[in-house]
Amino acid sequence: MKLRLHQFLARTGVARNNFDIMQMIKKGRVRVDKDVVTAESFIFDTNRRRVFLDGKEINLQPTRYFLVNKPKGHSCQRGEYPNVTDILENILKTEPEAMRSLFVVGRLDRDTEGLLILTNDGKTASKILQPIEKIEKEYEAVIDGSLTPADIEKLEAGVTIVVESEDYKTAPAKVKLVKRVKIPMSCKTTSVARIIITEGKKRQVRQMFEVVGHPVISLKRVRIGTLKLEDIGERWVKEVTRSDVIDAIALD
Ligand code: URA
Repeated sequence: MKLRLHQFLARTGVARNNFDIMQMIKKGRVRVDKDVVTAESFIFDTNRRRVFLDGKEINLQPTRYFLVNKPKGHSCQRGEYPNVTDILENILKTEPEAMRSLFVVGRLDRDTEGLLILTNDGKTASKILQPIEKIEKEYEAVIDGSLTPADIEKLEAGVTIVVESEDYKTAPAKVKLVKRVKIPMSCKTTSVARIIITEGKKRQVRQMFEVVGHPVISLKRVRIGTLKLEDIGERWVKEVTRSDVIDAIALD
């Protein structure tokens, strides 16, 4: 397998973040076979060459796959706290390198809860993230106001949201009203809806409901492909195999 040097180091779990990886390389602490390499973009065949950090050989971590039920308030961004990786601490407390090699596939906002995949398998992760794969992601949203059939029609056909400061029309989606809830002692109504999208633009679901006049009050991802939040059970984390993930999202 061919990897860039910084990708290789990330997957060995020797560093806490990208900055630390860059520093290790820049300071000449990393050797590939006999050569000190100071270019993080250096590409090499991991099966043919050996890598040393401060003279000690380092190796890729075996690939691991975890389903995590992310609580509200946890961040998916490395270096931000509390972090989703904290949830794995109990399971991986004797394996800090394995823990540091993991990354989130398809982030959730800090204020969104629900199903996440964490892995150190970059190849599978990038397949999941390829828009061309059109993997379904299902969310349960509690939204302000009463969602109407006309709103559903607009959302399903695609609405214009903002992605990286540009207008972007969302791909066709599926939307279902689960129930409307009257707030006692007020004239307000909220709605619970399920929405299935195949993209993953920043704050996409929140923006989509905002466009049709129903800001999101709370949001939970309940499914990715055929992987379901309820599969995790009572615990916050479930370790699964590569084939569990591959089959669930119909890859390969
Ligand atoms: N859509 C959002 O708006 N937020 C998420 O976290 C995921 C999808």
